[in-house]
Amino acid sequence: MKTRVLTTRENLPGRGLGRLSETADVVAWPGTEKPGPSDLASLAAGVSGVLALGNDPVDGALMDAAGPSLRVISLASMGFDNVDRAAAAERGIVVTHTPGVLAETTADLTFALILAARRRLGAAQASLAEGSWELFRMGDYLGLDIHGATLGLIGYGQIGRAVARRAHGFGMHVLHHDPYAADDGLSTSVDLPTLLTESDIVSLHVPLTEETRHLISARELAAMKPTATLVSTSRGGVVDEEALLHAVRGGRLHSAGLDVFEREPMGTELSPLVAEDHVVTLPHIGSATEATRAAMVDLAVDNVLDILGGRPARTPLPGSPATPGVPTRTAEARVPALEAGT
Ligand code: DGY
Repeated sequence: MKTRVLTTRENLPGRGLGRLSETADVVAWPGTEKPGPSDLASLAAGVSGVLALGNDPVDGALMDAAGPSLRVISLASMGFDNVDRAAAAERGIVVTHTPGVLAETTADLTFALILAARRRLGAAQASLAEGSWELFRMGDYLGLDIHGATLGLIGYGQIGRAVARRAHGFGMHVLHHDPYAADDGLSTSVDLPTLLTESDIVSLHVPLTEETRHLISARELAAMKPTATLVSTSRGGVVDEEALLHAVRGGRLHSAGLDVFEREPMGTELSPLVAEDHVVTLPHIGSATEATRAAMVDLAVDNVLDILGGRPARTPLPGSPATPGVPTRTAEARVPALEAGT
């Protein structure tokens, strides 16, 4: 009898799921809305692996519903805040994610947000579409320059570095704050207060952990230049959205470009940030290209197949063992705040 693996979607880009079904019986969550913890738990009995996306809840109850057969939780995402890592560690379950395959694509999208927010592309396009472009006026649609500006990267992992490389092509000066990354010729390491006060654009590339939740709140926003732009392609919870809304509405920040939100997906209950003139918003599409999404699924499937085949997982989370069966203490499941810049 084949081993069983639960996936949180019926269809995923690329050939990964097909490869997985050659080795395992794949049980998929069939719903069209985001599955809740109990939806997934109801399908989990006896599975050896769970393949989930970065937003799907994977908690201790799901692990218990799967039972002792569960050896790997494989995320088709770089971010991992949706998994109860301590619960997995206590049960000796390997947790994996997908570094190495999405940094360039997400850096591209980060730059799209920088350009759109600074040059006010959304407002200009909306004005054109509603028929308001009647006369060329020198004062219309004015934005702020990207070339020559200072870019501050909070979190300097794979994506942060890919953004820094692009910034040099734009003639920008680059700073970063990440206790685990020194100066590297592309970017200068500074402390957080310096980064906030000196940057024209602040871009977030940290995972969401207890240490980074609301890392950007009223105090940090007040420290930024009133002409600055905040960009986030990491996780919504890193920014206090209410404080951001106040800062933008009060003219204390030029603009923001957001691909991620505290509540995702939004459905028809839109965040007030979506309607703000100086805020560009996207539905979490940082890694959304055909090639990259297929590569993410492929790597997630490879991690499951590694564990099912008795091999160490190729990309375990920082703090997770690469082979199952070794329960770890809860404290060891913590990830240092800025270690795994996403
Ligand atoms: C990631 O890889 O973390 C992306 O945000 C998709 O979940």
